[in-house]
Amino acid sequence: METVVSGIRSTGNLHLGNYFGALKNFVKMQYEHNCFFFIADYHSLTTHPTPSDLHNNVRQVLVEYLASGLNPEASTLYIQSNVPETTELYLLLNMNAYIGELERCTSFKEKIRNQNENINAGLLTYPVLMAADVIIHKGTKVPVGKDQEQHLEMMRTFANRFNRMYNVDYFPEPFAFNFGEQLIKIPGLDGSTKMSKSDSENSAIFLSDEPETIRKKVMKAITDAGPTIPNQDKPQAVENIFNLMKVLSSVETYAHFDELYNNCRIRYGDMKKQLAEDAIKFTGPFREKIKEISSDNEYLRKVVKIGTDKARESASKTISEVREIIGFKTF
Ligand code: TRP
Repeated sequence: METVVSGIRSTGNLHLGNYFGALKNFVKMQYEHNCFFFIADYHSLTTHPTPSDLHNNVRQVLVEYLASGLNPEASTLYIQSNVPETTELYLLLNMNAYIGELERCTSFKEKIRNQNENINAGLLTYPVLMAADVIIHKGTKVPVGKDQEQHLEMMRTFANRFNRMYNVDYFPEPFAFNFGEQLIKIPGLDGSTKMSKSDSENSAIFLSDEPETIRKKVMKAITDAGPTIPNQDKPQAVENIFNLMKVLSSVETYAHFDELYNNCRIRYGDMKKQLAEDAIKFTGPFREKIKEISSDNEYLRKVVKIGTDKARESASKTISEVREIIGFKTF
């Protein structure tokens, strides 16, 4: 059994890409490993959300993860800012993190290019906080995508450096959890290969979307003028619609429209209508659960309490051992 740790970006509503890309695996993993899933609200401060946005985003993400099947008894589901031990470890790790290596980090360089007016120290040390998040629980597996590979490498650097500096074998090395072929990549409705909420408002289908919203978004999905030669290749945007159908509709439905495409008799309007109804059916249980959980503040309070207690138990054990290794002593 591995100790799995993963941070969840607290940026509001989750879409089908999030579900198939991460959530679905989290739900499965929680019964197979010792899992810590937390909402990374400290990390979200690098972009300065307003107090009400900060809270609402955290709440919404919590509700949607619960609605998707995360079980607060099976896994440890918590909010990063409720575990102050993480920030202490972050401070300690910062003493052994070199400015040069932090400045060389790709995600930091990207931020300099894209949000030049707000390059704060929190962004520079973002990978240090990530490392603290994981090694505070002595995590060994981190289920993240390719874009986080470099952050994982930095976690290993910081863990190893600590061990070497104090001549201990204390922190294990965390590695990316690789799902390989199992990962289903969900395309966007706007022709992009990856569903994303930032690309365009209509690219993503959210788990919380109302049926009418889903119909509107799907009907606006990008296609083309239609095939003119039998069995011709599908352009990306059309391929995307088919791929969504592969995930959301029945095998027969997919085969039906694929055949129409290959005979050049497809009517995208009909296909989209079908896809919209299947997307509505798929998200239905999520939509209902989200509403139910969101209105139950008592339950949410309980979930947060259970998660905080379990996370702090694990984190405080680590932090007191770390303090001892470093040489903090009581009088
Ligand atoms: N940076 C991650 C993201 O953008 C979120 C995150 C914060 C995280 N801390 C983490 C992921 C620790 C894995 C482990 O998605």
